[in-house]
Amino acid sequence: MNPADYDAWYDTPRGRWIGETEFRLAARLLAAAPGDSLLDVGCGTGWFTRRFAAQGLQATGLDADPDWLAFARAHGDPAMRWVEGDARRLPYADASFDHVLSIAALCFVGDERQAAAEIVRVARRRFVIGWLNRDSLLYREKGRHGGSGAYRGARWHTASELREFFSGLPVHELKLRSAIFLPSGTKLARYVEKCVPDALPWGGMLLVAGEKG
Ligand SMILES: C[S@@+](CC[C@H](N)C(=O)[O-])C[C@H]1O[C@@H](n2cnc3c(N)ncnc32)[C@H](O)[C@@H]1O
Repeated sequence: MNPADYDAWYDTPRGRWIGETEFRLAARLLAAAPGDSLLDVGCGTGWFTRRFAAQGLQATGLDADPDWLAFARAHGDPAMRWVEGDARRLPYADASFDHVLSIAALCFVGDERQAAAEIVRVARRRFVIGWLNRDSLLYREKGRHGGSGAYRGARWHTASELREFFSGLPVHELKLRSAIFLPSGTKLARYVEKCVPDALPWGGMLLVAGEKG
């Protein structure tokens, strides 16, 4: 998939609803203040990076793919920073960013446990990492048999598998929350999303949040 087509999905009614729903949950978990620094690992076209920059954060997007980064750079505010790099070896010293975010990216990274450890290492305060949930309707629709569309080749996890990635890391207050319970994006799906508690681990996107300890 090319970056323009990927980013255009966020302009469709369903894509915008999914993006905004995930953004709101991630923003609530990070609880960042304007002026805080944020690194978005596997930023892709920078849709989430731009959303956080619009909240007044000093946002940096990092991705391994120069074409996707070029798209992000062309569509972001000039004050935003874009860096080519590998999530498994982040080019930053320990505790370089107040907050570190990563949405639907580590599921494509070869050694995602190492990438999670790197995110924890460079975070000073909090991190949020979004993974695809195998215990979800989204998995049944888009994830089976190798996955389809933008989900092709992604790994899908359960909540307990994700918790295990953080054992032994300097993290406290580890929380798992989920969003996108009915992935259709219909009126019913939007209503259900408002009623179902995000602590239930059956949404298509599982967010793991923690504080640096
Ligand atoms: C599905 S996109 C997600 C983009 C964005 N976070 C979003 O949610 O719209 C996955 C991104 O992960 C990036 N990626 C894959 N492996 C990576 C690695 N080892 N280091 C950094 N980025 C990586 C890809 O280049 C791609 O841009």
